[in-house]
Amino acid sequence: MENKFSPATPRFPHMLHGGDYNPEQWLKYPEVLKQDIELFKKAGINCVSLGIFSWANLEPKKDKFTFEWLDEIIDNLYENGIYTVLATPSGSRPQWLAEEYPEVLRVGETGQRNIYGHRHNHCYTSKAYRERVKIIDTKLAERYANNPAVILWHISNEFGGECHCELCQKAFREWVKEKYKTLDNLNHAWWAHFWSHTYTSWEQIHSPSWIGETSVHGLDLDWKRFVTHQTIDFMKEEISAVKAVNPDIPVTANLMGIYVYGLDYYKIGREIDIVSWDSYPEWHLPGANEIMARNESLSHDMMRSVKQRPYLLMECTPSTTNWRQISKLKKPGMHMLSAVNAIAHGADSVQYFQLRQSRGSAEKFHSAVISHASSENTRVFKEVSKVGGMIKKLSDTVYSSDNPAKAAIIFDVESKWALDKCQGPRNAGLDYFGVLQKCYNYFWKNGIGVDIVDSEFDFDKYSLVIAPMLYMFRGNIAEKLRRFVKNGGTLVTTAFSGVADETDLCFMGEDTEEKLSDVLGMWVEETDSLYDSEENGMTWQEKEYKLYELCEILHPTTCEVLAVYQNDFYKGSPALTKNKYFGGTAYHLAATAHQDFYDDFFAYLADEAELERAMNTEIPKGVSVTYREKSGKKIIFVQNFDEHKKTLALDKQYKDVLNGEILNGTLEAGGFSARIITPDDEEQL
Ligand code: GLA
Ligand code: ZN
Repeated sequence: MENKFSPATPRFPHMLHGGDYNPEQWLKYPEVLKQDIELFKKAGINCVSLGIFSWANLEPKKDKFTFEWLDEIIDNLYENGIYTVLATPSGSRPQWLAEEYPEVLRVGETGQRNIYGHRHNHCYTSKAYRERVKIIDTKLAERYANNPAVILWHISNEFGGECHCELCQKAFREWVKEKYKTLDNLNHAWWAHFWSHTYTSWEQIHSPSWIGETSVHGLDLDWKRFVTHQTIDFMKEEISAVKAVNPDIPVTANLMGIYVYGLDYYKIGREIDIVSWDSYPEWHLPGANEIMARNESLSHDMMRSVKQRPYLLMECTPSTTNWRQISKLKKPGMHMLSAVNAIAHGADSVQYFQLRQSRGSAEKFHSAVISHASSENTRVFKEVSKVGGMIKKLSDTVYSSDNPAKAAIIFDVESKWALDKCQGPRNAGLDYFGVLQKCYNYFWKNGIGVDIVDSEFDFDKYSLVIAPMLYMFRGNIAEKLRRFVKNGGTLVTTAFSGVADETDLCFMGEDTEEKLSDVLGMWVEETDSLYDSEENGMTWQEKEYKLYELCEILHPTTCEVLAVYQNDFYKGSPALTKNKYFGGTAYHLAATAHQDFYDDFFAYLADEAELERAMNTEIPKGVSVTYREKSGKKIIFVQNFDEHKKTLALDKQYKDVLNGEILNGTLEAGGFSARIITPDDEEQL
C-alpha cells in the first residue's frame, strides 16, 4: 500500500532527532567540537540545524566569504552519520551590514529607527537587505545544496514583527492601491468617512500607529495582511535563491504555533514544502499541566493542518527555557512525554534548541542537550538519549503517517485580528482563543482526530465543522459552509459569528445569506455582554449549564430551539438552536458556555457523526489519547499528563510498539509518561 505522504526529507527519509547547533560560537575550542560529535552519537542525534546565526562567520566582511569552517563541521558530522538542516542566516545580520546599509534596521510605529542589536528585526522591504541576503543564500546553496549531507533548508528564523520605515510605507501604499484601485473604493471599504478621516490621496495612507491612526479598522486589518504579504515576499526571494541551485531540497520555515499574533501562518505554509515549528509549553505551572498539554496539542494540530501533512518539531527545550519570569525544569519523564505528544499529533521529528549550551550572552542559561558540564552524565542528557532511542525504534512505524480527521475547527487569524480591534461588545476580552480551546478539548481528550483550518480551506472532506466565534465571514466562506451543510455536513457556530465582512464592515439586513441565516434558521438581533459577576443559564437534554460573557438575542426563523435562557429580560428566548438544511444540520450556541457544555455537546455530535476514536474506552482525567495511521494500521499514543499513574481498560488486544509486550485487559501509564500501542494483528487472525 503506497503511503499517503512523500517523505519530508527525501535524502534521509526517517524521523529526525536533532536541533540547533551553533559551532560558530566554539571555533576556538576544537576539543568541544570533537566531543559534541561523540555525545550526539550517544544521544541518538541524527541531524543538526546549522548556520541560523552564522552570518558574521560566513561573511565577516562584505563579499569576503569564509565557508571552510562550515565545510569541516558538515563533513565531520556526515562521516559520523549526522545530517545537516542548513539555515539561511537572514534572522540576524553582521554589524558591518547595518553600518553600511542603515535602511536594513527596522523602524517602529512611532517612526524611530532601531540602532544595531538583537535579531529578527530587519526591514523586509529594504532592497539592500534583500540583495545581501540573496548573495549569502546563493553562496550557501552553491556550496552545499548538492552535498548529500544537507537534507533541508531552514529559511531564516522565526519570521515575525513589522517595520514602519518609509520603504515599507511606500510598499504598503502600492499594495493598498493594487487592492482597491480607487480612493472611493478604499474610503468605502475602510469606512473612512467616519470622523472625517476620508483619504484624498494615496500618500495619506500610513501604517497604524498609537501616535496616529488606530480608529480605522479596515486600515488595521489591511496593514496586518500586508505584513504577512511582505514577509512572504521576502521569504520567497530566499526560497528562490536556494532552489535556483537545487530545487530538490525541501524548504521549511520555523513557525511558532497558534498563538503567534502578527502573521498568517496558513499563507506562509503555502510557500514552503514542510511546516516546522518551535514549541515551548510552560510545563509544571502548578495544577496546569493538562491545560498546557491541550494548548500545545492545539498548536500541534494547527501546524499539521497548515499543509495537511506531517510537520517537524524544529525546536523544543531539553529542559528549561530562560526567557520566562520563572525558568522551571522539566520534571523527570516530561521531556519524553512532550516529545511523544508532538509525534502523536503529526510531528516527524523532535529537535531542540539547543544542542550545546551557549557559554555567554543572552541564552547561556537556556537548557541544552549538552550543558556547561559538558558531560553525558546529566539527567537531561540521559532523558534526551532516551528520546533518541525511542525515535529510532519508532521511525519505521510512524514516519510519514497520517493523522486522520473527519472533524475540523476553523481558526481564522484574520477574524482574530478583527475581533481584537472591534471595540465592543466586550473590550475586556472576547476570549476567542478560550472558545476555540473549549471546542478543541473534547476531541483532544477522546482521541478523535481534528484539523485546525482557516476560512480558505475546503470543508467537503469533513463531517463536522466547528466555527467558533467566526466574527468575520471573508472570501467565499459562507458559500462553502452552505454547500457543506447542504451536502449532509454538521456545522456548529457560536456567539458573535458572521458579523462582519472582510474589511470589517458589518453585514446589513435581518436574515441574509451573507450571515448564513438561511443555513442556521435564525438571525441575531442584539448581543448582551455580561459583567464578570453575572451569569445566565440553560437546560439542554435535562442538564443545566451556566452561560456567561456573551448572550445573543436571536430571532428563530426555521430553526428548532433546543434550549432557552433562564434569566434576564430575554428569559425564554433561544440559547441553543438546530436547523435542518437540505441534507445537513447547523447548530448555533448563542452564548458563552463552560467546558462542561462543550464536552457534552461534542460527545453527542461525535456520536451522531460517527467520528472514529483512537480507542473505545473511558479516558481517565489528565490522560489524552491520539492516533496516527499508516498502511491502514493505527498507532495509538496514550499520554498521561498527571503526576500519578493512570489505568485504562483496553477494548481489545494491543501490542506495545516500543517493547513488543502484548497487552490485554488494562493498560497502565505512569505519572508524566506515555505508552505507544497498536492493535495486535495476531489477535485478529
Ligand atoms: C526561539 C529561537 C531560538 C532560541 C529559542 C529559545 O525559538 O528560534 O533561536 O532563541 O527561541 O527558547
Ligand atoms: Zn521597512
